Amino acid sequence: MNPETLRPEIHSADRSQPQRLAINFLVRFYIVFKILRLYAENNELLQEQSDLLYQNLQELKESSPEINFRIKKESIFFNQSRLKFSIANYPVFKFLLEEFRKREIGLLTIEPDVSREELLQAVNVICQKRTTATPFEEIARELAEQGVEKIRVEKLEASEKLPSPEKSAARLFFLSILHLREVSERNKENQPIRLNTTRRLIQSIFNHLVDNESFLLGLTTIKNYDEYTLNHSVNVSLLAVALGRRLGLSRAELVDLGLAAFFHDLGKIETPLEILNKPGQLTEEERKIMELHPHQGAELLVQVRDFRRLPVSAIQVAMEHHIKEDLSGYPRFRMKNDLNLYSRIVKICDFFDAITTKRVYRKKTFTRAEALSLMLENIGTEFNPVILKAFVQMMGIFPVGSLLLLNTGEIGLVVETNQETKHLMRPKVKIIVDSQGQKVDGEVVDLTEIDPQTGKYRRSIVKEINPEDYGLEVPEYFLARAV
Ligand SMILES: [Fe+2]
Ligand SMILES: [Fe+2]
Repeated sequence: MNPETLRPEIHSADRSQPQRLAINFLVRFYIVFKILRLYAENNELLQEQSDLLYQNLQELKESSPEINFRIKKESIFFNQSRLKFSIANYPVFKFLLEEFRKREIGLLTIEPDVSREELLQAVNVICQKRTTATPFEEIARELAEQGVEKIRVEKLEASEKLPSPEKSAARLFFLSILHLREVSERNKENQPIRLNTTRRLIQSIFNHLVDNESFLLGLTTIKNYDEYTLNHSVNVSLLAVALGRRLGLSRAELVDLGLAAFFHDLGKIETPLEILNKPGQLTEEERKIMELHPHQGAELLVQVRDFRRLPVSAIQVAMEHHIKEDLSGYPRFRMKNDLNLYSRIVKICDFFDAITTKRVYRKKTFTRAEALSLMLENIGTEFNPVILKAFVQMMGIFPVGSLLLLNTGEIGLVVETNQETKHLMRPKVKIIVDSQGQKVDGEVVDLTEIDPQTGKYRRSIVKEINPEDYGLEVPEYFLARAV
C-alpha cells in the first residue's frame, strides 16, 4: 500500500478526534442546559446527564489538554479550530450560540482538572435565565462568589455582538414614520409616491413580526401627539399585519394588507389641521369635512403614478375603514352589501389604536384592556365577530403594553401575552415598580411561575391600572430596549 495515500487519513483522524469529542461535550452541555430549566438540582435525570457531561469532559481532556470554547461571528471555536456541526446537531449549535450571545459570553475556558462538582456549579450559573442588562457581569460575579476557579468566562467583544432584533424593529418603526411623512410631503408637492420603498418597509415589518410579535405590538404603545396621523398609520399597519398573520393570510397578502393599512388615513392630509386637532366637539360642518377623508384618500391613491403596484384593496380600505359591520358609519353606500376583508381588519386595528391614544378632544384615554372590552360590546354591529375574536385572542386579556398591579404590591408591564387559554390571565410582565413603590428596572417574570414552597402562584394580577394615574410612561420601556 502506498504510504502517501494513508497519511491524510491519519491526519484527518487525528484532527477530527478533539472535534468530535468537543461536539459530544457541547451536545451533553445542551442537554443539561435544557434539563436545568425544567427540574430541580436533585432530579435523577439531571444527575445522570451531569455524570455523562463530566465523563465527556474526561474524554475530551485526554485528547486535548487545553479546553476553551470561543464565540466568533456565526461559529463556535474549540481551541483554535472551528467546530463543524452536522445537520443533526445544528439545532444544538444554534441554541448554544444564541444563549452564549444573550449572556455576552465570548469565551469559556475549562481547566482539565476541574471536579465534577465545580463543573456543575459553573454550568448551573451559566445556564440560568438572565433578563437584566448586564448578564455577563452577573455570571462572573456569581462564579466568583461560589468559588468556581477552574472554569472562567470572558466577555463577548463588542464587535461580536449582533444588533438586537429589537433595535432593528424599532428602527424600522421610526423609518416607517419618516417614510410616511415623506409620502405626504411629496403628495402635497405633486410628486409621485415611491411605492417600492413602502413595500420594502412592510416586508421588513413582516419579517420582524415572525421573530418577535410581542415587541412589535409593544412599539404601538408609542404615541406621538404631534404627528398623530403618521404614528397612528404605522401602528395600524403593524397591528393589521400581525392580525392578518393570525388569520392565516399568505406573505404576499400580508404585504398588501400592510400597505393598505399604512395608507388608510392618507386622505387626512387634506383635512385642515384646525379640524384634525380641534379640542372639543366638532360642529356639524366640521364633522362633514372630517368625514370626507375616506373619499379623499381613495382619490389620492387612484392618482398614485405607480398605480399598478398598489393593491386595489388599498383603495377599498381607505374608502371603507369607517363603515361598520352593519354597514352604518360613513361614507354611506346605497348599493353596498359587503365589506372587503382587509377593510374589516383595518377597521378593528384603527379603532383600537385611536381610542388608546391620548387626544386633545377626547376626555378619556382607554387602557388597552378597556379598549378591547368596549370593542367586544360592539361585536357584530360595528366589528366583524370572527376577526374581532382573533384580535382579542392575539392581544390577550391584558395586551402587551398594559400595566398591572400585582398581589405582591409590584407593578408589572405586560411584555408578552400567554397564548394558552388557561393562562390568558398570566402574561409575562416586566417589574417596573417594586413592592415598596419604587420605580425599578426590574426583571421579566412569568405570572405562571409557581412558588415551590407554597405550591401557589408567585404573583397574580389584582387589577389593570391606567399609566396616567401613576405618572408612568409605557413607551419608555419599549424604547429602552430599542436603543
Ligand atoms: Fe380614518
Ligand atoms: Fe385611522
